[in-house]
Amino acid sequence: MVRSRESIEAEYVERTPASRAQWERGRRVMPGGVIKGAYWFPPHPLYMDRADGCYMWDLDGNRYVDFANHHSATILGHNHPAVVEAIEGELGRGIALGAPTTLEAEIAEEIVSRIPAVDKVRYANSATESALHTARMVRAITGKPKVAKFEGAYHGSHDALEYSTSPSTSEAGPSDAPVPVPAQRGMIPGSEESVVILPYNQPETVEMILREHKGEIAAVYYDGKPGMMDVPVDFTKFVRKITEELGLLMVMDETVSFMAGPGGYQREAGVEPDLSFFGKILGGGLPGGAIGGKAEVMDLLDNSEGSKGVFQSGTFSGNSLTLAAGLATLRALTPEVYAHVDGLRERTHAGLEGASRRAGLPFHVLSAGSMINAFPTDGPVRDHRSYDAIDVELFERVLLGLTVKGSYMGRGHMSIVLSEPMGTEDVDGLVDAFEDVLTAED
Ligand SMILES: Cc1ncc(COP(=O)(O)O)c(C=O)c1O
Repeated sequence: MVRSRESIEAEYVERTPASRAQWERGRRVMPGGVIKGAYWFPPHPLYMDRADGCYMWDLDGNRYVDFANHHSATILGHNHPAVVEAIEGELGRGIALGAPTTLEAEIAEEIVSRIPAVDKVRYANSATESALHTARMVRAITGKPKVAKFEGAYHGSHDALEYSTSPSTSEAGPSDAPVPVPAQRGMIPGSEESVVILPYNQPETVEMILREHKGEIAAVYYDGKPGMMDVPVDFTKFVRKITEELGLLMVMDETVSFMAGPGGYQREAGVEPDLSFFGKILGGGLPGGAIGGKAEVMDLLDNSEGSKGVFQSGTFSGNSLTLAAGLATLRALTPEVYAHVDGLRERTHAGLEGASRRAGLPFHVLSAGSMINAFPTDGPVRDHRSYDAIDVELFERVLLGLTVKGSYMGRGHMSIVLSEPMGTEDVDGLVDAFEDVLTAED
């Protein structure tokens, strides 16, 4: 049995007095004591001092294996020499030039060479921003007012798509006729009218809803691995097939997918969407996001011969530090690196399953590429509704227990993210800690 919340929290608080003090200080000048919402977790966040390779040290000097990897934005770990060298080289040329440099074509060529469905690329500052631009693009191209997205998928924090990301069952409507539920208060009233919600893993229902609304849907937004849920490749292929059949654009959310393989999830699944957007590791640890797609779609943004009505830009979009770090990251991601991380993933996946079996507490382990999640349920976790049924309190307790044992990880869906500097001893340590947490008693 897992220890009680009180007992784990007491140990956590005792180990981290400097973080506690920093949190108290921060509360006076930042809502919740943190600079962004995702940093908060109870009883107080960990404030970090430094990081190197796959390790981080908090203000109290405690060392953690970093299984969060900056919200899955890094796969090379901290301070990879090639990335550091690229950033330092760029710093020597100036921090913010505000004019194009040779880096632009270099990184665009690198991305185009990896992804068959991408002929041209534009940069933004995040996946959120990139998704926003695509939402305007698909409406402008088709002249249709709505977009469709899947329940449980998150495509960034904005009013165009932040619907039904994790709706409560009481609000979400029937599973075969889901309704758009705003993810936040304060979203533009009526913007839900522009969104059609689809269920994962129900092809007949998806087809029925899309046929009914096809005259008003500009594009279907799709993430093939939302929060590591069990979505088979065949479902992804189906989404591409039905969108083609009905003449709808397909926009693929590849924000985390380079974590899984060199051509994003689309190349693994063998589908070619009309448009994609990216983020996370494409910035090499610095803020970045990108939009990519077939030339005929991307050329909507070509303002070299006069405006086509959709202007994509942004003060820091495509800044040279981000491009340099992203390019160095992509180039460092050799097949050997992916193979190493994939081997660690298999080992960790099997280890977590074994630990949960031995502890007699069912955890359903899902993994792909460099990411793993272990849900406290018998499984399967095939959509947001099955995810919603898990024991969140137990999940959070286990996460805090692992933190106390020196494994730092994100909260929520993607809890375990592996990186290149990790070795078998690091992931075996996580598996041992997991078993300890599941079996320890007060
Ligand atoms: C699948 C997916 N899409 C979009 C986003 C938004 O990315 P960003 O935070 O860079 O705006 C995220 C972030 O976690 C994500 O996981």
